[in-house]
Amino acid sequence: MEVVVHSTYDEMSAAAAKEVAKLLNTKPNAVLGLATGSTPLALYKELIRMHKHEGLDFTQVTTFNLDEYCGLSADHEQSYHYFMRENLFKHINIPLQNTHVPSGTTRNHEAFCAWYENRIKECGGIDIQILGIGSDGHIAFNEPGSSLGSRTRIKTLAKVTIDDNARFFDKPEDVPIYAITMGVGTILEARKLVLVANGESKADAIAAAIEGSVTSMITASALQLHPDSVIFLDDAAASKLKLREYYDWIQANKPGAPRPE
Ligand code: PGA
Repeated sequence: MEVVVHSTYDEMSAAAAKEVAKLLNTKPNAVLGLATGSTPLALYKELIRMHKHEGLDFTQVTTFNLDEYCGLSADHEQSYHYFMRENLFKHINIPLQNTHVPSGTTRNHEAFCAWYENRIKECGGIDIQILGIGSDGHIAFNEPGSSLGSRTRIKTLAKVTIDDNARFFDKPEDVPIYAITMGVGTILEARKLVLVANGESKADAIAAAIEGSVTSMITASALQLHPDSVIFLDDAAASKLKLREYYDWIQANKPGAPRPE
């Protein structure tokens, strides 16, 4: 697990976007796992900039999103379908038929989730999965207590997540309490994991995920089990890490790190 800390949110996001660009420049038909939420917004902005100004090409790319709220149609402004269209897809040259976001309106959750898992496999598996982290340590909507072997399924959201989301809805009763989410086991099958987190509100969850025990109570701690995961942080999100200096030392001295003259 690599921990990369930058002083600002924008620098952190640009560094994470570079990982994606590096993949697309070597594997133009890569499969990307995408996340929603406020954290990856600057990462997506940077990908859009690279598309517009550096020719980063998405025509052969396939995407799978982590999750979607149950009960919200694709054109609902708070749906993750809408989020992805507005914040990424409509600004790049990805064919929309190559993009996958779990259905918020399916009535047959079990069949849909099995199809989604199968579709990821048919497309060759996810090359890079982008992840955020919740203040309760969740990845996707794998709330505390989610099995580390869990697969795509319908999930009842934790109270803290519902409260975190309430700001986006007019009335408390409109806040969804169920979501379809990839499981921790699904996420761990991606070839590379890239988690982004910024701000003080994520510092406790980040410290627990990186330096605590592997536990289903902090599902982001499952990244410790993955052979190729990178965690991009800003200073505030890294502020509770005990080994912060060591992570910086590794970045400065790892094989291939830029050497001072
Ligand atoms: P945020 O959400 O990026 O809006 O903080 C992260 C998450 O809950 O996974």
